[in-house]
Amino acid sequence: MSFRSISREALVGSITLGLVFVVGYILGKKKSSRMNIGKSHSTKVNPLLQYVLNNSMREHPILKKVRMMTMEYCHNSMMVSSEQSQFMVNLAKLIKAKKAIEIGVYTGYNTLNMALALPDDGVLVACDISETYTNMAKPFWKEAGVENKIDLRLQPALKTLDDFLADGQAETFDFVFIDADKVNVDAYYEKSLLLLRKGGIIAIDNVLWGGKVLDPAPDDEDTIALDKLNKKLHKDIRINLSMLMVADGLTLAFKL
Ligand SMILES: C[S@@+](CC[C@H](N)C(=O)[O-])C[C@H]1O[C@@H](n2cnc3c(N)ncnc32)[C@H](O)[C@@H]1O
Ligand SMILES: *[C@@H]1O[C@H](CO)[C@@H](O)[C@H](O)[C@H]1NC(C)=O
Ligand SMILES: *[C@@H]1O[C@H](CO)[C@@H](O)[C@H](O)[C@H]1NC(C)=O
Repeated sequence: MSFRSISREALVGSITLGLVFVVGYILGKKKSSRMNIGKSHSTKVNPLLQYVLNNSMREHPILKKVRMMTMEYCHNSMMVSSEQSQFMVNLAKLIKAKKAIEIGVYTGYNTLNMALALPDDGVLVACDISETYTNMAKPFWKEAGVENKIDLRLQPALKTLDDFLADGQAETFDFVFIDADKVNVDAYYEKSLLLLRKGGIIAIDNVLWGGKVLDPAPDDEDTIALDKLNKKLHKDIRINLSMLMVADGLTLAFKL
């Protein structure tokens, strides 16, 4: 199918990259210039990253379809980068994750990747507020035969986390990926930590926020929230910690 052929991909990749750049430039301060490289495997932006992708990606064909669809859609810079998603899924498998939460689903690239990796009796609680985005994701979950493992909750993620806490599910989750609005990132982290079992992992996306965390006097609430959380986690004795320069910055918190 030409949709998946290299030349089509290369074309779509370079067109979208151009668009992403222009849109990113226009959105400027508001949206932060998240790095979009690594999302379309055909970009020529960073040859070393291309080498990494060429030699490590084992992307499921339906995941590739989600990525290609999303690259042609608006707001596509919100999609997780594929190499980061593969890394998180490998981590989840390493700790034999059965119960996971994703905060911020969008078109469901990482949700699908995680659901594919969970055992048959596993569950991924998928939190989002957008019916439009998640409706784009759903057909692919069905096509991959994993929709029964995905528990989509269309309401503010804080409410979903509170529901699970009220339901007595503290200390029962294995893996949480935090990738939604940034002003609530600390609240997502605290509630996720309560829901997580010992040895469970919280992954937090965009912790470098396009480099804006270096700003000595940031004036936007997203940067302030992320920088504050980064500094808090450095001293947090409830976790072991890694902050990785993957994509837009990925923090891993291992619950003690
Ligand atoms: C960066 S995208 C998620 C990308 C996704 N993890 C992926 O793999 O491509 C952020 C998502 O968070 C959602 N969102 C924003 N505010 C939210 C909230 N308060 N509760 C739940 N989801 C929210 C948005 O609708 C959007 O789909
Ligand atoms: C990556 O793979 C593509 C397609 O096979 C190839 O054209 C390109 O040269 C490769 N790039 C690197 C850096 O390995
Ligand atoms: C946390 O780090 C300590 C010291 O390196 C190590 O002994 C322990 O196993 C780690 N715990 C987890 C859950 O990673």
